Amino acid sequence: MKKVIILNGPNLNLLGIREPEVYGTTTLRDLEDLCYQKAFSHHIKIDFRQTNHEGELIEWVQEARGIYDGMIVNAAGYTHTSVALHDALKIAGMPIIEVHLSNPKERESFRHFSYVELVADHVIAGKGPAGYEEALEKLAEIMGARI
Ligand code: DQA
Repeated sequence: MKKVIILNGPNLNLLGIREPEVYGTTTLRDLEDLCYQKAFSHHIKIDFRQTNHEGELIEWVQEARGIYDGMIVNAAGYTHTSVALHDALKIAGMPIIEVHLSNPKERESFRHFSYVELVADHVIAGKGPAGYEEALEKLAEIMGARI
């Protein structure tokens, strides 16, 4: 069974109450449940995590090497600022799908650049929670998991 790690960055723990007009009303827990269901149907095992700390995110990326077969990352605000996260992702040694609930490229100009995009195999943005499901499908395809 293929294993996928799903990493969520800062402020995503507040989904549901955080700017619902931008991010919707789905909570992080709802999102996690959705991912578990999708992964189950694709015979994929997932590990779903969230942190507000850049260093922790980087440590999780480093630790994933050799353990997981693929990664989905919504680095939230660190997407647009973190060279260190970019460097860690570059040597993760597995396919990486970048996901965003909103479409940062259609928002403020400071969100238009992504350090994650430069090292991601695929980017999904602006599709809300369904983007996470699509990311799992895309990874299943890339990893050659049973679908
Ligand atoms: C986000 C988009 C980022 O620009 C923002 O900083 C977030 C969430 C998204 O999922 O739409 O925190 O990654």
